[in-house]
Formats: sequence, C-alpha cells, structure tokens
Amino acid sequence: MRRRATAHASGRINLIGEHTDYNDGLVMPVALSLGVTVEAGSREDGIAHLTTDAPVFPREVSYQIGSERKDGTWADRVRGVTSILVQNSFHVGGFDATITSDLPLGAGLGSSAAFAIALLRALSELFDLALDDPATVRVAHAAETDFAGARAGLLDQLASVYGREDEALFIDMRDQAMRRVPLPRAAELAVIDSGTRHEHATGGYNRRREECEVACRHLGISSLRELETGRLDDALERLPSPLDRRVRHVVTENARVGEAVVALGAQDLARVGELLSASHRSLRDDYEVSTPELDQLVELARGAGALGSRLVGGGFGGSIIALAHRGGAKDLASRVLLSYGSGGRLVAVVP
Ligand code: GLA
Repeated sequence: MRRRATAHASGRINLIGEHTDYNDGLVMPVALSLGVTVEAGSREDGIAHLTTDAPVFPREVSYQIGSERKDGTWADRVRGVTSILVQNSFHVGGFDATITSDLPLGAGLGSSAAFAIALLRALSELFDLALDDPATVRVAHAAETDFAGARAGLLDQLASVYGREDEALFIDMRDQAMRRVPLPRAAELAVIDSGTRHEHATGGYNRRREECEVACRHLGISSLRELETGRLDDALERLPSPLDRRVRHVVTENARVGEAVVALGAQDLARVGELLSASHRSLRDDYEVSTPELDQLVELARGAGALGSRLVGGGFGGSIIALAHRGGAKDLASRVLLSYGSGGRLVAVVP
C-alpha cells in the first residue's frame, strides 16, 4: 500500500558564535519559523523521484536508491541523506518527494540542514526508521560532510532540531551541552538577505576550517577551545599570518558568546548590540568571510539605528541580522533596503 508522510524543519539564525562550532566552541542559534517542507509518498520500484517549487535547476530529478552519484545539483542533498541511511543499514524504499521552502536557499540561514532534516523526518515516518532526534542530527550532518563534502560543524542541525523561535539555544560544542536563553522581551531582530550567495563545498568555508586545523598543529593543541583568552597573545606570536587572525577571531568570538549570555540575562540590549557588531568586525577583518554587500548592509543597519548588526552563518554572501527595539525591526529593515537597492529583502523578524 502506498504510504504518505509530510514533515517540516526550521532554518535558523545564529545570534552570535560564528565559525566556532567546528572549533569545539560556543554558539547561540535561534530557530526561524521559515523552513523546508517535504511531502513524500512511497513507491515500489526503489526510485527516488523529486520535485521542487524552489527557483533551482532542474525542477525534477530521479535516481535509484543505493546508487547515489553526485551531479552537483540540489538533488545531491537528497542523495546524501539516502546514501548515508543505506550505508547505516536503514531500509529506504523508493519514494516520490515534493520539496517546498519558504526559507531562501544558500542565504546563510541553515537551509541545507533544514532540507536534510525535513527529508529524514518524512522518510523515517514512511519507512518506520524510528530515527530519534540525535540520530536525525547525525545523519543530516553526515550527509553534508561525508557526501556533499562541506566540512560544516553541527550548528545548523542542532539548531533546526532543538531550537525555538523565542529563545536562543546556547550550545557548548565541546560536549553539545545546551541551555535555553530567552530573548529579552524588548528585543527584535531583522533578518535581511543580501541576495548574494555562498557555495560552502567549493568555497572558502573548508579552507577556513583547514586553517584552524593547521593553527592547532602549530600550537600543539587539539582544538582552539583549549586557548583561553589569557594565553591568546602568546599563541598569536607563534602563528604566521593569516593563521594568527583566524585564531584571534575564534577565541574572541567564544568570549563574546559568553558575554552575550550574561548581557541577555541582564536584558542589556545595548551590550548585546555591541557584541554583535564586534563579531561582525572580527568576521570581516580577522576571519575574512564577509563580502562588500554584507559589510554595506551592516553599515546601513548601523546608520538606520540598529543596536548592533552582523553577518549570519558561514559568510561569503547570504544574510545579516540587525538588533532593534521590539516593534522596530521592520521599519529598520525598510530603511536599510531603500539604500541597499535591488536584490536585498527582509526575510524575517525574530521572534
Ligand atoms: C555554516 C555551517 C555551520 C557553521 C556556520 C558558521 O552555517 O553549516 O556549521 O560553521 O556556517 O558559524
């Protein structure tokens, strides 16, 4: 009998803590109400047949489950998920899947993870795979890293599975311990898409990760988390450029996340804003993952009265977040977008 299942998974912003997740560091994502929905129906012939309404090419793809081969299109996300499931001895039969998304793709808002997680939830129901949340996170992450070749951390998957819209999820990636930190009632965030896109698998993302690994080898440590701020200057002197700047970003960013937890608890929006802006400067100057468009949006947000603003996600294109007083985010975004010109758009107001 043909079975059917529908599942949704959320995108995310990350309040602060960027490029820290794969360095055993601290992150603070907030889930978005926007996300990816997968409607699936089983079929008898072992074929995966995919269609989407997203502005991507091709709109329709078919392949045989168990013979997943990358073709460089969005369908690789699905191939990654089914191939990892098959490798792990889950029985996945053929299926039709329609994928719809109100989350812009490749905009730094965790769309790849949301896609994989929505699909996993639908397939789990369709084929009685009994995937619990930790297994969903693991398989979605393996699809991204082992199959797609983007050596991303766990931020997006954890945020999508465990995140909520009105609170930040403070995660220590050393042991994945999580604590919920409510967003101050007086705060609101505008999420603005620059309209420019990144390509993690082939772009600078993997290079940054490698630079962190090389820096660790230089310093004789296994993770940059071992570098407390007190030992930073000494470590920086021992590192060639640009590794010193990469390390400075990661270590100071972890410290900013810690400070942001305190500032959120104290409802100190001005301080949270300063930390967001400092994070952007560090991502721009030390980690070098910003773009002229993202820098322009951040500047415009500041000029329009944002308490703080920064690029969100991996960078190299995508979106910014701008902190405003409750009720002010939409207006702030309109003023930013008026000066930014075409291509940009307000994606969401959080919470
Ligand atoms: C992307 C990756 C995450 C994380 C961020 C940067 O979103 O998927 O794992 O590294 O970039 O913080």
